[in-house]
Amino acid sequence: MSTEVRSKRITTRDIRARKGAQPIVALTAYTTPIARLLDPHVDILLVGDSLGMVLYGMDTTLGVTLEMMINHGKAVMRGSRAACVVIDMPFGSYQESREQAFRNCARAMAETGAGAVKLEGGRELADTIRFLVERGIPVMAHIGLKPQAVHVAGGFRAQGRDDDEAAAIHADARAVADAGAFATVVEGTIEPLARQITEAITIPTIGIGASPACDGQVLVIDDVIGTFNDFIPKFVKRYAELGPLIEEAAQRYAAEVRARTFPAAEHCFGVPKRQG
Ligand code: KIV
Repeated sequence: MSTEVRSKRITTRDIRARKGAQPIVALTAYTTPIARLLDPHVDILLVGDSLGMVLYGMDTTLGVTLEMMINHGKAVMRGSRAACVVIDMPFGSYQESREQAFRNCARAMAETGAGAVKLEGGRELADTIRFLVERGIPVMAHIGLKPQAVHVAGGFRAQGRDDDEAAAIHADARAVADAGAFATVVEGTIEPLARQITEAITIPTIGIGASPACDGQVLVIDDVIGTFNDFIPKFVKRYAELGPLIEEAAQRYAAEVRARTFPAAEHCFGVPKRQG
């Protein structure tokens, strides 16, 4: 998506229609100011449960709550005008039953105003995805490496390493597409699996650590701008290094406060209010 002015919000139908066409650009966002900066340049803003690790310093995403996702979802919606905003459903909020999934997804959609939800899972979730879509909730699926299942998988490791694992992920992709998901994230799969899946299913694949052959890519914004350094996945390309810039700003600020050389009060006000 180029940076032309867009008047109307991108819908899940628009995303679905991009299968095999112009690649889908997606980034995570968790706050209003970042959403404002990213919105003109992306098709999808994903309020990912990665925020547990990126913003809250958790080791995994398992401690993220529905309340956290709703609050950050509202913040992102306030900063976004055009992108399709997707809310990640946190661990434990949808796996128990279709009814539990509907109740929590409906709450997330109603309270945030977002366009869709994302659920991690393949065949085991197909029934739930169908139930939600039939009741008006657009679902993005998430297959391959599923961070919420990190303890079952034995760590954050690449998926599809042998034929059985690859066949299982293929089956997951077909199941979520048949169930009515409008797109699926494919995370952490060994080549050429994501390419083969992209060719085999009728909905867009959005890769992360998967393949440029996918119908789009999603990355975690803090990986892209260099503000999350706990670990850097091999596939991540850094487009900016803001970490050192922030540190430098903090150092200069601290030096000015200590030297009492920061601007006096009369210089601090009168900045025009931000438009729009
Ligand atoms: O939580 C998240 O940010 C995600 C993306 C990495 C796909 O699920």
